[in-house]
Amino acid sequence: LSIYLSDYLRVLVPSSSVFQARQVRSLHRSAVRAGAGGIFVHRDTPDNNPDTPFEFTEENKKRIEAIISMYPEGHKQAATIPVLDVAQRQHGWLPISAMNKVAEVLEVAPMRVYEVATFYTMFLRQPVGKYFIQICTTTPCMLCNSDSILEAIQNKLGIKVGETTADKMFTLIEVECLGACVNAPMVQINDNYYEDLTPKDIEDIIDELKAGRVPPPGPRGGRFSCEPAGGLTSLTEPPKGPGFGVRSDL
Ligand code: FES
Repeated sequence: LSIYLSDYLRVLVPSSSVFQARQVRSLHRSAVRAGAGGIFVHRDTPDNNPDTPFEFTEENKKRIEAIISMYPEGHKQAATIPVLDVAQRQHGWLPISAMNKVAEVLEVAPMRVYEVATFYTMFLRQPVGKYFIQICTTTPCMLCNSDSILEAIQNKLGIKVGETTADKMFTLIEVECLGACVNAPMVQINDNYYEDLTPKDIEDIIDELKAGRVPPPGPRGGRFSCEPAGGLTSLTEPPKGPGFGVRSDL
């Protein structure tokens, strides 16, 4: 679709120097998803086939029972996403045998589970490194120079998007908005968000991870959370208390 859209725009504005010159990131180069969780057709391999050993641990079986109990009788399928998540956290990624097991537990056709697992980039249908780096390059992050963060990661690790380092420590993929635009540019590494990044920040984070330490998540550069980068514009003094504004003669 993006290729067609790009061609369509060229037809609309064939002589537009703006379109030609300012197209820093062409439309057909949007996030590459062929990496860890990306779109691909399943083909059986020695380590990913219906006979790949997978069974939920006893602890996770209890966890799944608790998850399913949150949904109305007869609607186990609604638990597909959380149960897939349990499977992935247990195994590290989702071989087809794990998806089949999820289907069995939820009493649905395996295709119902494949449909979900192939739609969301959070589900990994290939093994990934110990640290799974997802860099957001959607518009707000791109405008805050996510390209420089991506370049820093690639240079630091010597891998491209969709690749894993030889020591299986890091996998890098490019994703769409991760919902932290106000702290752009940002990356997600495993479950942690690292925000307000500079190239130096991401290099430091990678160094820490290589040294076996997990740096604290959150914004870099002084912000506590997602307050305005230029300082507060309201609520700049302590609240006056519940009695403020109430007439004393009432
Ligand atoms: S655009 Fe990057 S987090 Fe939303």
